[in-house]
Amino acid sequence: MNTNIYLNFAKSIALRAGRLLHEMARDFGKIRYKTNSGNLVTAADDASEKLIITAIRKKYPHHCIMAEESGDCGEKDSEFQWLVDPLDGTTNYAHQLPIWSVSIALTFRKKVIMGVVYHPNTDELYYAAKGQGAFCNGRRIYVSRTSQLLRSLLVTGIPFSAREKPFDNFRNFEKFSIKGQAVRRLGSAAIDLCYVAGGRFDGHWERDLNPWDVAAGSLILTEAGGEITDFTGKPYNVYHPTETLASNSRIHAQMIKVFTTQ
Ligand code: IPD
Ligand code: CA
Ligand code: CA
Repeated sequence: MNTNIYLNFAKSIALRAGRLLHEMARDFGKIRYKTNSGNLVTAADDASEKLIITAIRKKYPHHCIMAEESGDCGEKDSEFQWLVDPLDGTTNYAHQLPIWSVSIALTFRKKVIMGVVYHPNTDELYYAAKGQGAFCNGRRIYVSRTSQLLRSLLVTGIPFSAREKPFDNFRNFEKFSIKGQAVRRLGSAAIDLCYVAGGRFDGHWERDLNPWDVAAGSLILTEAGGEITDFTGKPYNVYHPTETLASNSRIHAQMIKVFTTQ
C-alpha cells in the first residue's frame, strides 16, 4: 500500500481547512452548546468539517469517515476509515486564543496508517506515515531525551465530562506538578501529542478523549520515538481512548507510578 498518497492528500486538506478556520477566526458567528456540559461548537467547526468530508468523499467515495460534528458516514464496511477533528481546541478558538488545530488520520483495519495535525497560528504541519518517521514542515522530529520526571515539562487536559462525573485529574495535576518540572494545559489534545513528539513536552496524560482527538497525534508521537498506553501501561487503542498516557518513553514508567501512588 502506498500510504504517501493518502498522506499527501490529507496534508493538502488539513492546510485548506486550517486556512479557512484562520479566515473565520475573527467572525465565526454564534456559539452553540452541544450539551449543558459546556462542550461548544461554532460555525467554523462545521465549515471546516464540511470542507474535509467533501474532499474525502470526492476522492475516496468508498471509504468510511468518522468526524466529530457529523458522526459516522460513508460505507460502514470499508477497511479504510478517516478520523477527523475539524477543529481541535474549539474553546480556545471561540476565545481568540491561538492554540487550535486540524487533525486528520486514516486507519486501515482499525490501525492508524497515517496522520496529520496542522496548527495554523504557528504554520506547523506535523505528519507521519506508519514506519516512515514523524515530521514537522518537512523536518524529521524526535521526542526529548529527558529521563527524569523531575525535569519533565508535562501537559494535560480536563474533559467536559469532569463536570458530570468528577474524577481524580485534579489530584493527578497536583501530583505531577510536584513530581515533574511543571504542568501545562493548552486545550488541544492533538497539539499536546505533537509537542511531545517534537520534544517541547516530555509527557502528556488525559482521560476521556475521542478517537478524532488522538488518532493522528498518536501515530506522530510513536513515529517520533514516543510511547503511548493507558495509565497502567497497557496497549493503547485509538478507538477507546479512555486513558491516554503519552511520553518520550524514557519517563513512561515514572509517570505510570504517579497514577498508582498517593
Ligand atoms: C478538546 C481538546 C482539549 C481536550 C478536550 C477535547 P475539541 O477537543 O482536545 O484539549 O482537553 O477533552 O474535547 O472539543 O476542542 O475538539
Ligand atoms: Ca477535539
Ligand atoms: Ca473538535
